[in-house]
Amino acid sequence: MRILFLGDVMGRAGRTAVADRLPSLRADWKLDAVVVNGENASSGRGLNGNQARALLEAGADVVTLGDHAFDQRDMMQVIEQEPRILRPINYAKSAPGRGWRIYEIAGRRLLVAQVLGQVFMSRTYDDPFSAIDQVLAAHPLGRAVDACLIDIHCEATSEKMAMGHFCDGRASVVVGTHTHVPTADACLLPKGTAFQSDAGMCGDYDSVIGMEKTEPMRRFITGMTRDRFEPAGGEATLCGLFVETDDTTGRAIRVAQVRQGGRLAQAGPEA
Ligand SMILES: [Fe+2]
Ligand SMILES: [Fe+2]
Repeated sequence: MRILFLGDVMGRAGRTAVADRLPSLRADWKLDAVVVNGENASSGRGLNGNQARALLEAGADVVTLGDHAFDQRDMMQVIEQEPRILRPINYAKSAPGRGWRIYEIAGRRLLVAQVLGQVFMSRTYDDPFSAIDQVLAAHPLGRAVDACLIDIHCEATSEKMAMGHFCDGRASVVVGTHTHVPTADACLLPKGTAFQSDAGMCGDYDSVIGMEKTEPMRRFITGMTRDRFEPAGGEATLCGLFVETDDTTGRAIRVAQVRQGGRLAQAGPEA
C-alpha cells in the first residue's frame, strides 16, 4: 500500500498548496491512501468544517488534528458527523470524536490513530504510550489490519523517537507532527516501521514556524507583544512522508521524505 502523510497544514498558504498539488501527487505517485494533519489550517488555529471538506475533496482520506483540535468551535459538531476526521486519542475524555479508526481504502484496512505527547506541552494529557498500546494490541498488523499509521503530535523529538520504537513492528508508520520543521531522520526502524520525528508543515517557510515572521521576531527580540500572529502568505512547501507497505505483513518496505513546492529543498519518492 502506498501512503502519503502530510504535516500540519498552515493557514491559507497550506490549504492552497494541498488543493493545487495533492490531486496530481495522488496520481503521479499512485497513492492508495493520504493522511493530512489539519490542526492549523484555519489561520493557524484549528480547522473548521468547510476547510476540512476542502482537504478531503483535494484527496485526503483521513484528516488528523492535534492540540488545536477544537480551536474552531464548529469542529465539535463536524467531528461527530465526519468519521474521516480524528482528534488525539488522549485528548480530554469529554471531547467529541475519536482518536483512532479503521478505514477501508483501496480494498485494505488502514488503522489511523493520533496521540499527543506529554513533554513540553502546554497542558498535560493522559499517558500516550498506554493509549496507543491498547489500540495496537487489539489490532495486530498483518492480521486485524493491513496497514497502520500513528501520528504522534508533540514537541520533543525524544518522545517521538521513543514512540517510534515502542510501535516498531506493530505499526506501518509512526510520524511526528506539531513542530512544523521536517527532520532529516526518515528511516525504516529494525522491525519494519517507517519513522520520521517530524513531518514538517505544509506552509510558507519564510516565516517563524508558519507565522508571518515580524510579530514572533518582535516578541523574541523585545519581549513585547503588539499584534496577533498571522500565517505567512507566501508559497507553501508540502512536507511529509511517503511510505510503501507490504500488503501481507503490513510492515513498511520503503520510505521517502516529501518536500514539494515553496522554499525548501525539494524531495520525494523515486519513481
Ligand atoms: Fe500542535
Ligand atoms: Fe501544528
